Amino acid sequence: MKTGVMKIRRQGRLKAKVEEVKENNSHYFESSSIIIINEDFLTTTKISAESVDLIVTSPPYNVDIHYNFYDDRITYDEYLQFSREWLRKAYSLLKDDGRMCLNIPLDKNKGGQQSVGADITTIAKEIGFKYHSTIIWNEGNISRRTAWGSFMSAAAPYVIAPVEIILVMYKQRWKKTSGSKISDITKTEFMTWTNGIWTFSGESKKKVGHPAPFPIELAKRCIKLFSFVGDTVLDPFMGSGTTLIAAHLHNRKGIGVDIDKTYCELALRRLQTEAKINHGVLSSLLSL
Ligand SMILES: C[S@@+](CC[C@H](N)C(=O)[O-])C[C@H]1O[C@@H](n2cnc3c(N)ncnc32)[C@H](O)[C@@H]1O
Repeated sequence: MKTGVMKIRRQGRLKAKVEEVKENNSHYFESSSIIIINEDFLTTTKISAESVDLIVTSPPYNVDIHYNFYDDRITYDEYLQFSREWLRKAYSLLKDDGRMCLNIPLDKNKGGQQSVGADITTIAKEIGFKYHSTIIWNEGNISRRTAWGSFMSAAAPYVIAPVEIILVMYKQRWKKTSGSKISDITKTEFMTWTNGIWTFSGESKKKVGHPAPFPIELAKRCIKLFSFVGDTVLDPFMGSGTTLIAAHLHNRKGIGVDIDKTYCELALRRLQTEAKINHGVLSSLLSL
């Protein structure tokens, strides 16, 4: 049978299964290693408490990005309140030795200067998270320079660091005792990545078809450095499914939540093409 025809049949089967899952009012998609939940992370009840080994995520930045569904233009106070709510939920889902890698801006300069990284770190600590470290992501192709302030004058110049951060926190104890205890990181990766300045490009919005994707490299590094093979990795703001792709490619279980159905569809398509979730996996879909 021609590959094209097989692909269309496979997509047809996948679509039918997704419809069935929706009718059953359950996960948007579920295989033995991947779960996609099309719900608001704040209210979903589909993830068990204390079941997650590692969270890798990038929440909305509140910088007026045009998502289909989520309004990315709330006030800074509302944004911090939203951050408090989702961080509280995330905390409850982590195991005691669970960790979180949170990709956020260091500073915000659009609509007023704000210390986003510092403020979210403080909120996370108030909730109970313990601080481990901050990785600086030096994203070569970033463009944050919207204003110079007073150009070549000390009157009111603007300074902007063209980087983002990955805040590394944990729930109760840093030493990881649960899970397979199997690490798949190489010596070179370990030596390079434990230097907390990471330099690699951001992901193309156009290529991925999402307004704010992070690169697979970011998720891959976090997953290989901070989790064991077989662990459960959660992305509460899954977007185009980057974290799930990295999780699947590195033999971890992935759970992704997105409030927007079109992004859940996009994540599923990317999982098929980029993580080669194939018919074998699809046929092992659980009957829910
Ligand atoms: C910065 S993007 C994440 C992009 C992702 N890291 C990727 O590589 O594609 C944030 C995502 O959060 C989703 N979102 C916003 N509010 C949400 C909520 N309350 N629950 C679940 N998802 C939400 C948006 O639809 C958007 O896709």
